[in-house]
Amino acid sequence: MIPNNNLNKILIIDFGSQFTQLIARRVRELGVYSEIISHKKLNLKLEKKQIKGIILSGGPLNVYQSKKVRFNKKLFSLNVPILGICFGHQIISKELGGRVKKAKHREFGLAKLKKLNPSKLISNFFNKKGSNNVWMSHADEVTKLPKGFKVVAKTETSKFSIIENPKKKLYGIQFHPEVTHTENGKTILRNFIFSICMIKKNWSSKNQKKMLIQEIKDNVGKSKVICALSGGVDSSVVAKLIHKAIGKQLICIFVNTGLLRKKEEHQVLNTFKKKFKINLVYVDAKTLFFNRLKKIFDPEKKRKIIGNLFIKIFEKHAKKIKNVKYLAQGTLYPDLIESKSVTGSQTSKIKSHHNVGGLPKKMKLKLVEPLRLLFKDEVRKLGLELKLSKEIVLRHPFPGPGLAIRMPGEITKEKVNILKEADDIFIKELKDHSLYNKIWQAYAALLPVKTVGVMGDNRTYEYMCLLRAITSEDGMTADTFYFKKEFMQIVSNKIINNIKGINRVVYDITSKPPSTIELE
Ligand code: XMP
Repeated sequence: MIPNNNLNKILIIDFGSQFTQLIARRVRELGVYSEIISHKKLNLKLEKKQIKGIILSGGPLNVYQSKKVRFNKKLFSLNVPILGICFGHQIISKELGGRVKKAKHREFGLAKLKKLNPSKLISNFFNKKGSNNVWMSHADEVTKLPKGFKVVAKTETSKFSIIENPKKKLYGIQFHPEVTHTENGKTILRNFIFSICMIKKNWSSKNQKKMLIQEIKDNVGKSKVICALSGGVDSSVVAKLIHKAIGKQLICIFVNTGLLRKKEEHQVLNTFKKKFKINLVYVDAKTLFFNRLKKIFDPEKKRKIIGNLFIKIFEKHAKKIKNVKYLAQGTLYPDLIESKSVTGSQTSKIKSHHNVGGLPKKMKLKLVEPLRLLFKDEVRKLGLELKLSKEIVLRHPFPGPGLAIRMPGEITKEKVNILKEADDIFIKELKDHSLYNKIWQAYAALLPVKTVGVMGDNRTYEYMCLLRAITSEDGMTADTFYFKKEFMQIVSNKIINNIKGINRVVYDITSKPPSTIELE
């Protein structure tokens, strides 16, 4: 699947590394468009003209597992520079006649790299003493160089940590320049794309905006587009972008499920309807959602009810709008990359995600997915370029099923109101203490247990509020964010003093895995 055939690019061939997306992001951060393709799907005929360089990713396989590794040797005859990282380094070596074996001393974590010979690839990379700390993760190693290659750097236990054949513009590195643990790692990528591939910068929010607006105009023509606006970052950017391209031909539908954050519906109406004058259908479905969720305790049932009801309501209101041909969706690039199953393993289903993905088939609408080339941080930058407020653009992710999955047990209006207030206090304090933007996602949850407390001289018997704050790259894994004791005390006091119904506050210190980010 190749999302864009018009831009010059660095093609990243994925062999299943957990860092492949990071490589693509680093290249884009340097201002150059990059695309990921699975090694199984490579079709060089399609994209040859625009490929100005190729990076081969790392991966969990061994290069000598010939059945699982598909390597297209034609890559070498394309006459474009190739950089192999880790597994990529080993596969270049093996395919060109070198040797790769299980390493006598495997390297995991930091290793000290020593410069042996000059190379364009390492310009400004090493310190004055000719060494650098790099991050390794490998159990195999290159033990014999292919013909025409020379060694550029080594570590104490590995002879061929950087190798090159400058005449053929082929480079191999055993460490990972894309991770932040490698000092100066970006310099290697910068040298590769600008000094070796000689590609020109072509990727910034400004030209993405121009390109995407033109693309929407060309594709949609005079047709109408509908869009499910949630107030989250992705759908907000989609709506603003499409509105810029086709104005009144865009109709947004906003469904108030009653499970949104405090005053979220006001913010959406004020921003999109009043300020930007976007056609917006507001559907107040609070009562319907609360009625359907009565006496439902099971997390998966909750998710299914909310997802299906949302789709039904959306469909009903969309049908009232005549001549609609397109449905806009905030699909992002990571959703499209088929890079996770190189080893053939199937991840088990943890949660049923709520999104509008089921709609187009049922409604026979064509899709407009203008963000399909972008990573989340790029969407945020584009949002700012489109003059959306920082409050919307830098907002933490919020799940489709909303507060329902932050409230184990039965959902009631009373509990939702308590939770909205607690969450609002927590988030406001994070902003006031300049912590909000250091955290990937933070929220308050309401636990379905009541405990005894004492306020004044009276006994209380009220709910327990759980606070969660995590750091993450993409929500797939997460680390706990640790606050200072004083901050926790301020938040806990404010929640208990201001909200009747909560008399105890706890902080969740689990990472993901083993926990998930949301409670349900
Ligand atoms: P979990 O709880 O699976 O969450 O660790 C990972 C990230 O996904 C968000 N999330 C959702 N987003 N629809 C969404 O659009 C959903 O049904 C959904 N469930 C979880 C969650 O907030 C976190 O950012």
